[in-house]
Amino acid sequence: MSTENPQNELPAPRRAIKSFVLRQGRLTSAQQNALESHWQDYGIDFSEQPLDYSALFGNDNETIVEIGFGNGDSLLQQAIRQPQYNFIGIEVHGPGVGHLIHNANTQNIHNIRVIRHDAVDVLTQQIADDSIQQLQLFFPDPWHKKRHHKRRIIKPAFIELIGKKLKTSGFFHMATDWQHYAEHMLDEMDQAEAFRNISGEGHYSQNKGARCETKFERRGIKLGHDVWDLIYEKR
Ligand SMILES: C[S@@+](CC[C@H](N)C(=O)[O-])C[C@H]1O[C@@H](n2cnc3c(N)ncnc32)[C@H](O)[C@@H]1O
Repeated sequence: MSTENPQNELPAPRRAIKSFVLRQGRLTSAQQNALESHWQDYGIDFSEQPLDYSALFGNDNETIVEIGFGNGDSLLQQAIRQPQYNFIGIEVHGPGVGHLIHNANTQNIHNIRVIRHDAVDVLTQQIADDSIQQLQLFFPDPWHKKRHHKRRIIKPAFIELIGKKLKTSGFFHMATDWQHYAEHMLDEMDQAEAFRNISGEGHYSQNKGARCETKFERRGIKLGHDVWDLIYEKR
């Protein structure tokens, strides 16, 4: 007698491989307070409805989305330097989200919002196609062990997804301090028909554009790592 699936149940759906492992991390009282008192000003709840940026920000400025902003210091700095844009940061790590909301609130910065959820779901469901001017991915988890490479966020399905979300002539800016991941980004992105490498095929960017120094970048530099920026234009 076969013991396989005796009640004809459908197999459980396979969980998609995530690009992060959620670290619990303790919230400081300032972060906790920011999440409780200022979520309504800065937070966007995850939902399956595409966002209306004009309603959200009260203007028609172009929108820049950053994935995995960490503690958000560089994103906030950029939002201050570029008041002509609206910024949406997506991050799963609670203390980082609280840290950014706390600092945005104390510095009275209003062209920034945050979503605490998996960026792949957010892009798929909550970001409309052809709606964003720039997407930023700075120092994503490198998952440097070979058996973990499948967790890297840069992969063909993700590249196809962001190609749908960016406007024509919008930009995708990546940076990493892991040479092997930089090479992987360059290979995968140079092959993507929806994108043009603004530095020329096979080349890294000579400058870091509007990117401000991030916490993980500083950490990498202290360890003696180099930094590679890659900037692509959506065709
Ligand atoms: C190595 S850290 C870099 C943080 C920051 N960009 C910096 O340079 O300091 C990567 C961050 O991406 C976040 N992350 C990874 N995958 C994510 C996803 N699918 N959605 C949202 N955040 C993600 C992690 O929680 C982590 O904070």
